[in-house]
Amino acid sequence: MLSSRPLSQSATTISRTSVVQLCKAHGGPRGTLNASRALVLIHHQCITPVRHFSSTPQAKMRDVFPEKETANVKTTKAAWPHPIYTYEQMNAVQIAHRDTRNMSDKAALFAVRCLRGFLDLVSGYKHDHAVSLSAKDPKQASTKYGMTAHKYMIRNVFLESVAGVPGMVAGMLRHLHSMRRLKRDNGWIETLLEESYNERMHLLTFLRMAEPGWFMRLAVLGTQGIFFNAMFVAYLISPRTCHRFVGYLEEEAVITYSRELADLDAGKLPEWENLAAPDIAVTYWNMPEGKRTMRDLLLYIRADEAKHREVNHTLGNLDQKEDQNPFVSEYKDKSKPHPSKSIEHLKSTGWEREEVI
Ligand SMILES: [Fe+2]
Ligand SMILES: [Fe+2]
Repeated sequence: MLSSRPLSQSATTISRTSVVQLCKAHGGPRGTLNASRALVLIHHQCITPVRHFSSTPQAKMRDVFPEKETANVKTTKAAWPHPIYTYEQMNAVQIAHRDTRNMSDKAALFAVRCLRGFLDLVSGYKHDHAVSLSAKDPKQASTKYGMTAHKYMIRNVFLESVAGVPGMVAGMLRHLHSMRRLKRDNGWIETLLEESYNERMHLLTFLRMAEPGWFMRLAVLGTQGIFFNAMFVAYLISPRTCHRFVGYLEEEAVITYSRELADLDAGKLPEWENLAAPDIAVTYWNMPEGKRTMRDLLLYIRADEAKHREVNHTLGNLDQKEDQNPFVSEYKDKSKPHPSKSIEHLKSTGWEREEVI
């Protein structure tokens, strides 16, 4: 994973006294300088980010992903470089819903509503109640159901820990199917694995800002155990329903991140107003200089969710056994807009089969 992190500003302003103290504390038997050991420690102490939303007291906080210094490795690059998104494209992302058209769609939507109910319970989020009360008494609605940065962070960590499962299950099963049946896969596997990789990057980014407590760890563990197995069985029975399910799940993710952006803009999340995106995010999304705040980060993540929504609704429209993956295909008529890996022609409710195959 990403291991080359730029030194933060604090590293450059470390005082001479602290260097001397560190050298004394970690020097050789006669107090001689063990320079490389001292520098590694300085590096770690300086770049370990402050996590603002942790349930762990600051004094006990540890670096979630401590850097490993080895004799030979300089850096390890991301397996799937992230496509470049423009601000125009990210700002154009909208909340959307694809209407159900058959029983399979209805089953998928029902499953997402159940999962969302559980997620709302875990993160203390009651949007529908909040909206109805807000119409009558906005002040009471905000006191009773208002989301804080801390609550949003819990929701994000839990949401992302779940979101990384379906792509991996689907990619794995299609991989096994291709080998078992001695058939080609038509390019779906990589897109599915890339999606789960992207979701894991969302999770790792949030973990740089919040250290989950034991309750969250338990909830993630239990949910993954149940969700992985449920997805595994469901994908064997009806992959189309599973892609629709993920499409609806991603609709919810776009809603959540849009609300976070709206609350941030409305001044309801002061902790996030001057918060910088972690280095892992800056490197992964290639965030431009001067555009590396929490708000920018939420824009990138919301755009990713909108992409997953489009991909899965589209895959749910296709013949699962015969059709090519439209997101990595080259098209005969290049003058028309087509699906791609980026978000230049994003279709919120997915591409219909006739449009792409
Ligand atoms: Fe995500
Ligand atoms: Fe997603």
